[in-house]
Amino acid sequence: MKGGARVVWVIGEKGMLGTEVSLALEKAEIEHIGSDLDVDITNGAALNAFAEGKAIKWMVNCAAYTAVDRAEDESELCRRLNVDGAAEVAKLAGRVGARLIHVSTDYVFDGNGRRPYTEDDETNPTGVYGRTKRDGELEVLKNCKNSYILRSSWLYGKYGNNFVHTMIKLMQKQDIISVVNDQQGSPTWAHDFAQLIIMLIKKEHKSDGTLYGIYHFCNGGGVSRYDFAKEIYKQSRELGILTKECTITPCATEGYPAKARRPAYSCLDHTKIKTALNIKVSDWNVSLRTFLSIGNYNNI
Ligand SMILES: NC(=O)c1ccc[n+]([C@@H]2O[C@H](COP(=O)([O-])OP(=O)(O)OC[C@H]3O[C@@H](n4cnc5c(N)ncnc54)[C@H](OP(=O)(O)O)[C@@H]3O)[C@@H](O)[C@H]2O)c1
Repeated sequence: MKGGARVVWVIGEKGMLGTEVSLALEKAEIEHIGSDLDVDITNGAALNAFAEGKAIKWMVNCAAYTAVDRAEDESELCRRLNVDGAAEVAKLAGRVGARLIHVSTDYVFDGNGRRPYTEDDETNPTGVYGRTKRDGELEVLKNCKNSYILRSSWLYGKYGNNFVHTMIKLMQKQDIISVVNDQQGSPTWAHDFAQLIIMLIKKEHKSDGTLYGIYHFCNGGGVSRYDFAKEIYKQSRELGILTKECTITPCATEGYPAKARRPAYSCLDHTKIKTALNIKVSDWNVSLRTFLSIGNYNNI
């Protein structure tokens, strides 16, 4: 713990986003604690015991069941974490009067849209993961009035398996790779998302709680997975991360069988959070370059 006025509890601190949030809190010198599998979010008593005697002002819930395809076969487990776990976390936040930031996903939408989804658009998830995340959001809103639901999309970062990591590894190994060109979304650097969470925590709150609610956060712009992969390749070559050539070819989702159906279009409109916090957000290709430039790929 570092000295400061607020105690923030990062739940799921060892995951891709949770790690970035913990590091960002450390850097901002905001007092924080963390838990992961050691405090099972589906176990209300364990959550209560961990919170006992601690002055918790904020809870940031990054813990979730995130294996989108496996969820189709493990729907009960996925629901237990993403719905019951979210409910337990929200109940505790409500009981101790903490502000809750609960992280959610673009997969709550069906992907039939043709313009970036706003917070007012209807959810209509198409798979187990998205359904449980949507139901988890409802539990949070029901059980904690001081809550933010932050939906993000296509997260990548240093501390977990993700698309950027997978693409660079494949490009290192293979001379040709195929990437789907009929799924479009907004890639988001987990580090940028963590900074957003810090800004939210630092922002003074109005006593009437008018800031609480659902928000979208992603890097600016939208791109297909195929064009995202091409940009990863281009930047990795320019930065000397990739020393060999690789050809990237487009393919259709139906030629790339996966258990869960992904939304074909899941770009998020982040106007609401930009206005609420008065911030600028980097475009996805700018953040990608920063991510790749700061040496995240030395060990590949
Ligand atoms: N990754 C994306 O592209 C993406 C996009 C949009 C939104 N999101 C959302 O962003 C959030 C963070 O995602 P992420 O990619 O950082 O996920 P992640 O890397 O899978 O991290 C989740 C963490 O929660 C832990 N956990 C699992 N079950 C738990 C339990 N019962 N109690 C306590 N902790 C538990 C996991 O441990 P184990 O790993 O050991 O199971 C892991 O450390 C999630 O809410 C996700 O839905 C992710």
